[in-house]
Formats: sequence, structure tokens, C-alpha cells
Amino acid sequence: MKRYEFLNLAATNAPYMEEIRAAVDRVITSGRYVGGEENERFEKKLALMHGARFAVGVSNGLDAMRLILEAYKLLGKLSAGDDIIVPANTYVATIMAIIQAGLNPVMVEPSLETLNINTSAIERAITPRTRAIMTVHLYGRVAYDAEMARIVKNHNLLLLEDNAQAIGAVSSTLGLFFSNRSGALGDAGAFSFYPTKNIGAIGDAGAVVTPHAELADAVRALSNYGSDRRYHNIYSGFNCRLDPIQAAVLNVKLDHLEQESNRRRELAAVYNAEITHPAITLPSIPADPREHVWHQYVILSPERDRLRQYLADNGVQTDIHYATPPHRQPCYSSRFSGLRFPVTDLIADRALSLPISILTSPDDAREIAAIINRCNP
Ligand SMILES: Cc1ncc(COP(=O)(O)O)c(C=O)c1O
Repeated sequence: MKRYEFLNLAATNAPYMEEIRAAVDRVITSGRYVGGEENERFEKKLALMHGARFAVGVSNGLDAMRLILEAYKLLGKLSAGDDIIVPANTYVATIMAIIQAGLNPVMVEPSLETLNINTSAIERAITPRTRAIMTVHLYGRVAYDAEMARIVKNHNLLLLEDNAQAIGAVSSTLGLFFSNRSGALGDAGAFSFYPTKNIGAIGDAGAVVTPHAELADAVRALSNYGSDRRYHNIYSGFNCRLDPIQAAVLNVKLDHLEQESNRRRELAAVYNAEITHPAITLPSIPADPREHVWHQYVILSPERDRLRQYLADNGVQTDIHYATPPHRQPCYSSRFSGLRFPVTDLIADRALSLPISILTSPDDAREIAAIINRCNP
């Protein structure tokens, strides 16, 4: 029986191994093991690609969000206890960052059409203490539109982005600071280069992208013990720096992103055309396909666990993103106990992610679709 792997990280890096080895070698022979040229090159490249003035490499995506929030507290734009609007349907890290920064996540249900925050439900969630929206481009799809831009402007909010899953996505609505790249649509974007992401490091890595010099400076200082220069600490900071070995790997992989995103779009189009099972809800493809980079290809099935077992029995590995949403995680059982998010719960019960890495060929996607279509309803 043919096997269809969900993801194989070593194999996804194999096409770039020579370049990656040379890049890592450069770091080792440079003798500069914290910061250095690869970091500077990475930050320049990332900022340029996003039409943004500043990019700061950091340790991971969670830290990227925490640093943005802590920096805005230092700059006086956020204060402890402020409300931050955030989708209920997200990976738990988004909520953790907000809570760990002493802020209050106000969760809003997703739309079943996009699985992203339902922008038409945001305004109802705004309180006198709301200071920001932390939008999440979940599964790689842009979660920003003219309505969100209007709300941010009318209510004088910060627009923050959890762009962990959507690097390379292009919004059809222009961002607030004249970039249309996800992660650069608002005041600050948090990036993750966790190995499974569309650009994955060979360990943990992340970045902050922003059009604001004062925020970039504060994030950079905070990530390095709060120092603005050597042995001069203006803040009580953290150690959340980007490892130069990871920067070197990311410099190689950034060059291949566009081609890999197009491959993912092609696979999504094949799945959408070929899966015809009546009980399965397919993800919608945005009118402008550039709005989605398909970090995950997520179908909804009322019999998800049975379908998953059937696929495993037929050689198709799948995954679930995410079976337990943040509001039902044990660490938040008391904090969110009174809250109900039925749309988020429904997605958690039905979501199933199919293989969509560069190792999956369009023919594989066709074969997987045929296997799904043969599943008894
Ligand atoms: C939506 C989302 N936000 C935040 C993160 C956190 O990123 P990291 O694992 O780099 O801390 C991830 C991934 O892990 C994610 O998928």
C-alpha cells in the first residue's frame, strides 16, 4: 500500500541541504555565535520582502508576540488589564502571549467560511478597555479586510498580527501602513519559524515586523536584556534573541518561499476540485488566491475521527489543528469557564488536516481525494 506522509521535516529540507550546510558553516567559522551578519541579512531580507521598515529576529513566535505586547506597555500604548480582541479559533500561543503580558484576551468566534475571526462580530466585543486587535491568519489565510481596517481606525486600536502560519500571504485589502503582506498589515506582526511552518528553521526561531521605529527599538532592546547598547539596560528585559544558525538557515529558505507557496496553492486547488464526498466541507479558496498560503489544508467532517482512522488504514497520514481550542485547555479551565464558543467547538470537533507539504505531489493529492471519496458516508 502506498503511504502518504503528512510531513517529513528532514525530507522538506533535503533540496536545500547544500545551501543550508554552507550557511551554517559560515556561522561556525565566523566565531560570532550570538547576533552577527546572518541575523542582519535576515532582518533586512524579511523587512524588504514585507515592504516594512523594520524586522527584528527573535527566539520564536510566542516570544515575538510577548515582546510586541511588552514593548507597547513600555511605550504607554497598552496597560495591564487592557482588552485585546483575538479569535477564539487559534493556536493556544496567541492567547498565552496576551495573558502572560498581563492583558485580557477577548475572544471572538470565527466565520465558518474562512475559519478566521468573524470581522462582523468584532465591534460587539469592543469595550471601553479595548486597545488592540490581535488578528491570526490561521492555516495561512489572511484575516484582515476593509471592515477590520475600519474598526481599527474608528476605535483607535492597534492592529497586531499573529502571522505564525501565513508568511507570504498577500492581502487584497491594503494594510494600514501601505504594505499588503500578511504580518505587515498593521502596527506589528509576529512570525514563527518553528520547523513545521511554511518557512521552518532547524529549531525555534521567530521575528517581529513593524513600520514603527520606536517599537522595533523597544522589541530589540527587550529581546536582549533590555539593553540599547552593551551593558546599558534601559528595560528589565529578556533573552529572546534569534540564533544566528537559524538566521542562516532562514536566509536560504526565504528565497524558496514563493515557489513553495504556489505549490501549496496548486495542491489546495486539486483537493478542492477532486474531493466530492457529500459529508465533507471543503475549505473555501479566497477570490484572490494570493490571500492564502495553505499552511494547513483543513476539511470539516462530522465523523472526523472515523474518517481519520479510515485514512490511516488506507496509508494517508493526517493531523488535527486543533482538537482542543484555547478556551477549553486545562490551564484556562477557571479563567474561561463561563464562556461558550460553539463555532470554535464545532471546528475543533470536525477539523482534519490533509498532507500539503512540498513532498505531496498533485497526483498524491488526487489519489488522497479518491480515497476520501470512497469512504462510506
Ligand atoms: C498561530 C500560531 N501562533 C503562535 C505560534 C507560536 O510559535 P512558536 O512555536 O514559534 O512559539 C504558532 C506555532 O507554534 C502558531 O501556529
